[in-house]
Amino acid sequence: MITGKFPNLRLRRSRKNDWSRRLIEENNLTPNDFILPIFLIDGKNKKQAISSMPGVYRYTLDRLSPFVEKAIKNKIPMVALFPYTKLKNKDELGTEALNEDNLVCKAIRLLKKRYKNQIGIMCDVALDPYTSHGHDGLLKYNHVLNDETIQMLINQSLIQAQMGCDVLAPSDMMDGRIGEIRKSLDKNGFKMTQILSYAVKYASSFYGPFRDAVGSKKLLRGDKKNYQMDFRNSDEALREVALDIKEGADMIMVKPGLPYLDIIKSVKEKFKIPVIAYQVSGEYSLLENSINKKLVNKDIILESLISFKRAGANAIVSYYADRIVNIIK
Ligand code: PBG
Repeated sequence: MITGKFPNLRLRRSRKNDWSRRLIEENNLTPNDFILPIFLIDGKNKKQAISSMPGVYRYTLDRLSPFVEKAIKNKIPMVALFPYTKLKNKDELGTEALNEDNLVCKAIRLLKKRYKNQIGIMCDVALDPYTSHGHDGLLKYNHVLNDETIQMLINQSLIQAQMGCDVLAPSDMMDGRIGEIRKSLDKNGFKMTQILSYAVKYASSFYGPFRDAVGSKKLLRGDKKNYQMDFRNSDEALREVALDIKEGADMIMVKPGLPYLDIIKSVKEKFKIPVIAYQVSGEYSLLENSINKKLVNKDIILESLISFKRAGANAIVSYYADRIVNIIK
């Protein structure tokens, strides 16, 4: 509803001064709005640059603490762990996902022991960091098997929950996995482990740099279109969300972020549940490289991040989360 009429009404009046603009601001960001993704790598004393993601690094476990402590100090509520898996630890079935001593499991144990509940730990539930073909599930004749994959995901979830993971985030896009994972968690004493479902995950070219970061890019056979969503669709996103809520999801992820603000908004409006946006690797790289090349100035970071809040996101997974205090200052 628009009230008032020019010249009585002049919206520029309230824009004239900085104090006034601050007074009427509708959206803002605080560190509470961020989830910090962390890439892990085997070995000792390494903080390894990722060439496709300037400013983002892979950490060995012995170098993890200062990075996490800074996040705790800055009041970031949660980190998300992603492993770079050695080629020799990958196979067709992604068996390494079920190894209690894989990188992610070791990292959860270490962080939980050291920081207890000072910061939440979220882990992906999916097989892609562990499979030799780069897919999120078990592959047969270039098709990812649904129900057979779910069995693996249930076990991966239970192991990660056992290690102390607070939030399991199935990012695999199999049908029916949220319900099955919830059931197994409850049966095995993990009633309070949260599920953040990547309910709306599009088959996207914006994931390129991430696949580089976890070492699955060169391996990926074909594409993920037989399980991740078609970017032409939006009604289908609402169906995905409705199903996952029924199956027990506590929070919903929409991914990628910036090209899908319409989806964030309609999921929030329809379902009134916590919605998390993922500003994915390709979005990060586009922003960061353009800033480094001086095509645009660094204010585009804040502008992009605020758009997620305007659309209705409760929080944002962002590779900028470690620098957010400076960005919002
Ligand atoms: C894997 C997974 C992906 C991302 C998060 N979890 C990539 C994919 O599905 O290929 C992408 C994150 C990013 O691009 O930043 N299940």
